[in-house]
Amino acid sequence: MNAIDLFAGCGGLSRGFMDAGFQIIVGVDNDQAALDTFARNHIGAVALKADLSNPQTFDLIRNVVSGRSIDVIIAGPPCQGFSLTGPRHFDDKRNKLYLAVFDAVKEYHPKGFIIENVPGMATLYNGQIKNEILSKFESLGYNVKCQILCAADYGVPQIRHRLIFMGVKKDIGYPHFPSALFSPANYRTCREAISDLPSRINDIGKEVDSYSSDPKTDYQKLMRKASSVLFNHVAAKHSQMVQNTIALVPEGGNYKDLPAGWGESRKFHVAWTRYHGDKPSNTIDTGHRNHFHYEYNRIPTVRENARLQSFTDDFVFLGTRTQQNRQVGNAVPPLLGYYLALSLRAIIEGGND
Ligand SMILES: C[S@@+](CC[C@H](N)C(=O)[O-])C[C@H]1O[C@@H](n2cnc3c(N)ncnc32)[C@H](O)[C@@H]1O
Repeated sequence: MNAIDLFAGCGGLSRGFMDAGFQIIVGVDNDQAALDTFARNHIGAVALKADLSNPQTFDLIRNVVSGRSIDVIIAGPPCQGFSLTGPRHFDDKRNKLYLAVFDAVKEYHPKGFIIENVPGMATLYNGQIKNEILSKFESLGYNVKCQILCAADYGVPQIRHRLIFMGVKKDIGYPHFPSALFSPANYRTCREAISDLPSRINDIGKEVDSYSSDPKTDYQKLMRKASSVLFNHVAAKHSQMVQNTIALVPEGGNYKDLPAGWGESRKFHVAWTRYHGDKPSNTIDTGHRNHFHYEYNRIPTVRENARLQSFTDDFVFLGTRTQQNRQVGNAVPPLLGYYLALSLRAIIEGGND
């Protein structure tokens, strides 16, 4: 089945779809570093750098698709910029990034689509934006449902909630979200995910390096696949002051555990948060300056966060460290994408997930 990925980023969502057997024809984004990573990890897909708010971008996509049928459209438009200005909110040109997905569905009539967004979008303007998205796509001939899913329920060692819209052509069937495979009692943990990676104590490591031990858990085996080389596992260099501050935070703790006078510069709710080794991680964000390794006194490396996002070790991130972190934090965990893809494929093929 052919798919196109709009607002593809580095391609976490499309990696999941590829793993489920979909062919990604093109991934579109306006961030060059993310597209470099996308191209490196999605062999056979075209990485198209273009602005999806510009109507001419659709000519470029049309050229790449070149008459092939598109079975599925997947998209992760950024949430910022939603505004309500009048009776036809959705059509307000400031909401044009969503309109790009709508226009693509209108043009390619895929059998189904998936749109990912932050959970806050479900309640934005008392749910008006969400309801408008539902009715707008329904008017195109789709049954559409949305639900907030937690990545940990699908084997991702991370508490990450995301709002997912699934649409299925009315003559094909109804959306159906994948059932949870894990529960809080058996969620995968940080330790299960990253305890085999070198500590980087006294050595920040290299962009391309080797493993220093065998995998210790089934999840680590799954993440290594056949990788024999370790990429993107480079530690940040913190000042002694920052290291001393992190050292004062216990596993699972945060700034509230610091003695009076410490860590004054960061006091918002996720500041100075140390992961708990025996729990899934907090939501991986794009900044990565406020979360720390459960054992070592440093922020996680790009590879550690990629593991917590369920990117296998053969998925290599390109660009500066800041760009790599942004790509990882922006992504849909590939495992979540994989189970969404299986569900959608089963509906399209008339089976069960
Ligand atoms: C949430 S991220 C998508 C993550 C992706 N779905 C994944 O799983 O890796 C949103 C992406 O939209 C891109 N973007 C933002 N505005 C854009 C625009 N006007 N045209 C194209 N891409 C844009 C950003 O560069 C970013 O990579």
